[in-house]
Amino acid sequence: MRALSLSAFTALAFWSVGPLQAQTEKSLYERLGGKPAIAAVVNDFVGAVGRDKRISGFFAKADIGNLKTRLVEQICAVTGGPCSYGGRDMKAAHAGLGIRAEDFSALVEDLGATLNKRKIPKKEQSELVSLLAPLRDQIVTR
Ligand code: HEM
Repeated sequence: MRALSLSAFTALAFWSVGPLQAQTEKSLYERLGGKPAIAAVVNDFVGAVGRDKRISGFFAKADIGNLKTRLVEQICAVTGGPCSYGGRDMKAAHAGLGIRAEDFSALVEDLGATLNKRKIPKKEQSELVSLLAPLRDQIVTR
């Protein structure tokens, strides 16, 4: 009898949690398509930035392989994915580059174009941009 009531309790617990979980929105990480989709976006994005004459000069001496790895980690981490960012903080990473507000805008524009190309819905695009935009003050130095 005790075992029966315990399993009845377990069944009830699952029954009540199930519908609640269904209502909870998935993380942005999951909605973007997880790590493979984020890696594909980062790959295209870094390519687009490299072709953008307004800002490509900044990346002339950058280690592009490392940049892609770090960006994937960072986007995975801030969107709720199972990653931790292992790079430098944003202030240290961009110190001395002399990035202006217009350079930052150009990069965000390239990100938007890449997200459109990859068919990321507008809702997810704006959530991602909202997570990255606050980093502007650590990156823009003039
Ligand atoms: C929200 C916007 C941005 C994010 C999230 C971001 C993120 C990153 C990350 C994760 C790294 C690698 C750090 C490391 O290796 O430890 C990096 C490096 C770099 N970023 Fe950004 N960045 C942003 C904006 C910009 C802008 C606007 C520019 C220039 C127009 C820029 C130029 C660079 C360059 C040149 C490097 C390489 C520095 C080096 O190799 O020493 N970043 N960025």
